[in-house]
Amino acid sequence: MYTLVTGGAGFIGSHLVKALINSNRKVVVLDDLSMGNVENLPKSENVTFIEGDLGNKTTVQELFKTYDFEKVFHLGAVASVAASVENPLKTHQTNLEGSLYLLEEAKKNKNLKRFVFASSAAVYGDEPTLPKTENSPIQPLTPYAIDKFASERYALSYYQLYGTPTAAVRFFNVYGINQNPSSPYSGVISILTDRLLSNKKGIEKTFTVFGDGEQTRDFVYVDDVVKALLLVSESEDALGRVFNVGTGQPVKLIDMINIYKKLSGVNLPLAFEKQREGDIRESYADINALRSIDFEPSYTLEEGLNVYWKHE
Ligand code: NAD
Ligand code: UD1
Repeated sequence: MYTLVTGGAGFIGSHLVKALINSNRKVVVLDDLSMGNVENLPKSENVTFIEGDLGNKTTVQELFKTYDFEKVFHLGAVASVAASVENPLKTHQTNLEGSLYLLEEAKKNKNLKRFVFASSAAVYGDEPTLPKTENSPIQPLTPYAIDKFASERYALSYYQLYGTPTAAVRFFNVYGINQNPSSPYSGVISILTDRLLSNKKGIEKTFTVFGDGEQTRDFVYVDDVVKALLLVSESEDALGRVFNVGTGQPVKLIDMINIYKKLSGVNLPLAFEKQREGDIRESYADINALRSIDFEPSYTLEEGLNVYWKHE
């Protein structure tokens, strides 16, 4: 029996693949390498890499004909909100149509034990209720968030309608090793790491803070995200439900920057620019639902940043 990880060559997916391999699973990765990199994958005979587009129905059908999947983690997506705003149609083909192709095949597979869909805190938009519980108002503001919410609902409705064993997770701000810092819309911690590394090498760079730095986020270390994904894929209580994945702790952007500067020991000049259009002021997760299936984050922000920095 195999485990499928779509988007497995990407940031979060590759960490998940490593964890699955370490617990002796046979893993199939479907990734079109639009963002991912095969170098992220562990070198193991238990990993089969398939370069392909999950937004192509035939590719997905062939995949399920070839392998008998026990678990599916659907992480493959156009993960950039900016890209979704630039090209809603292309994003939709991957982020919604692709999800439906996978769900249709999952529905037919009687051996399937769990299908976990990776959604996003972006579904909450800038609605001000805090902390975000899974029942907080939904206000998806971008093509990315709209397709995430729709896919999430499809996944959960497949459980209600057809008994397909689905669950969904809403990731907050994930950070860690292998996160790509190359776009201005990359996660803030990956950009910060990149700037700290440059300065450490003597290439002087500035880090730009958008706004006053007082905005809060729930930064969750990637290993904790993998832990949450595995729990959601195993717990009977997770069936048909959606779970926030964060730490439950809000951190001010400026505090995170100062903690990171201090632990790296690198001097990094800051420049302040006006707040980003549509930037959310405060965001953090209520993780009681995840706690109810025995999740507790293992990493404080300091610990996560420390592991990340030491690796770089
Ligand atoms: P990522 O870009 O590193 O990973 C996504 C992977 O999907 C990439 O390897 C990419 O090549 C692949 N992919 C894209 N389009 C594809 C297609 N048509 N067919 C096959 N593969 C395709 O991003 P990530 O940060 O690892 O995100 C993983 C998942 O988690 C995504 O669904 C993303 O939307 C979601 N998410 C991430 C965060 C975060 O903070 N990183 C927050 C919320 C939600
Ligand atoms: C995150 C998601 C985004 C989603 C949003 C909705 C990521 C990378 N982005 O955005 O897709 O729509 O949640 O909840 O996961 N910042 C700087 N300097 C920089 C980069 C960022 O000051 O160089 C600031 C941003 O303005 C923001 C904060 O840092 O206030 C965090 O930024 P970012 O990592 O991009 O995440 P979100 O804005 O939370």
